[in-house]
Amino acid sequence: MKAVILVGGFGTRLRPLTLTKPKPLVEFVNKPIILHQIEALKDVGVTEVILAINYQPQVMLSVLEEFETKVGIKITCSQETEPLGTAGPLALVREKLCESDEPFFVLNSDVTCRYPLNEMIEFHKAHGGEASILVTKVDEPSKYGVVVLDEETGMVKNFVEKPKFFVGNKINAGIYLLNTCVLNRIQPRPTSIEREVFPAIANEGNLFAMVLTGFWMDIGQPKDYLKGLRLYLDHERRNSPQELSGGPNIIGNVLIDSSAKVGEGCIIGPDVVVGPNCVVESGVRLSSCTLMRGVRVKSSAHVSGSIIGWYSTIGESVLVSNMSVLGEDVHVRDTIYLNGVVVLPHKEIKSHFVNPEIIM
Ligand code: GDD
Ligand code: MG
Repeated sequence: MKAVILVGGFGTRLRPLTLTKPKPLVEFVNKPIILHQIEALKDVGVTEVILAINYQPQVMLSVLEEFETKVGIKITCSQETEPLGTAGPLALVREKLCESDEPFFVLNSDVTCRYPLNEMIEFHKAHGGEASILVTKVDEPSKYGVVVLDEETGMVKNFVEKPKFFVGNKINAGIYLLNTCVLNRIQPRPTSIEREVFPAIANEGNLFAMVLTGFWMDIGQPKDYLKGLRLYLDHERRNSPQELSGGPNIIGNVLIDSSAKVGEGCIIGPDVVVGPNCVVESGVRLSSCTLMRGVRVKSSAHVSGSIIGWYSTIGESVLVSNMSVLGEDVHVRDTIYLNGVVVLPHKEIKSHFVNPEIIM
């Protein structure tokens, strides 16, 4: 079985992290976003993953080789000369996908969930239609593709991308299983699978939706990334609590990499991920945040609701809060207050920023 992951462009919504690392390689819970998906695909018998990208893949190639060996799966890149949207990239790799008659998976690269791919394969076989999509319920459906389905059969009656008016609260989770005949509907030109392909298949009664149980999040923006982190850790708590960190200074769900060092008198949690080789000095308070690899947080600093990029330093008694995102190699001097700021990579911060802004 094969799978295509739609990796897309430069991940502008995850800047400044994506200024120094391609989005698929940005870690989510200490593992590159894309590796979560590749592992889940491997687990259900996928043998080749094709990454559909529209920028220079050179930066990724060596890392992908490493993933190939680690996971034991073939990974190839298909590069577009112009962005082909969410369907066009599939036409570009048509030959490869048609090497067998088996259906293939398509994944948006920025979604996280518990990947019920085996259930999807069973569901797909059972309904016999052309395409299966995974759907999930959300409170705010307007920024997604909304799916109206027959509750009994799962047959999709209507697919509306980013609706202006309320259509329903079940949305496209960005994970599909498609028969190769779907490729007959797609040309190698900019095409939206959500606006052009799915509505057409639904019209013919050949599109079916399986409702996801459990958590789901599109983590393509910092606020949603942190929400996704909370949901992921909560899922771990209920399913593999042994994976989470514990101890007197830990509150709620926390994951600290075994190579990280944590000093005396810290209070960590809830919803915190500390990356490899981080150093958290004494008396530090961390809540709802993630520290990427190699971050140092000096004594008595407080980080909440924020993402700290690789190898950055947070000075003594600093307060970083309110959806601040620090790029790679940012250094914040002692006693500084940062509120809702976005800091570009390689900066030194010497003064307070009390209002949300971008620090260039
Ligand atoms: N190769 C390639 N080329 N990939 C692309 C392109 C392109 O031109 N454009 C977008 N992508 C990739 C993105 O990187 C992402 O992984 C996926 O396609 C979806 O694009 P987004 O830009 O993230 O779309 P969205 O989040 O607004 O909406 C999509 O995802 C929602 C779920 O998160 C839609 O599929 C919605 O229907 C869905 O509900
Ligand atoms: Mg998205």
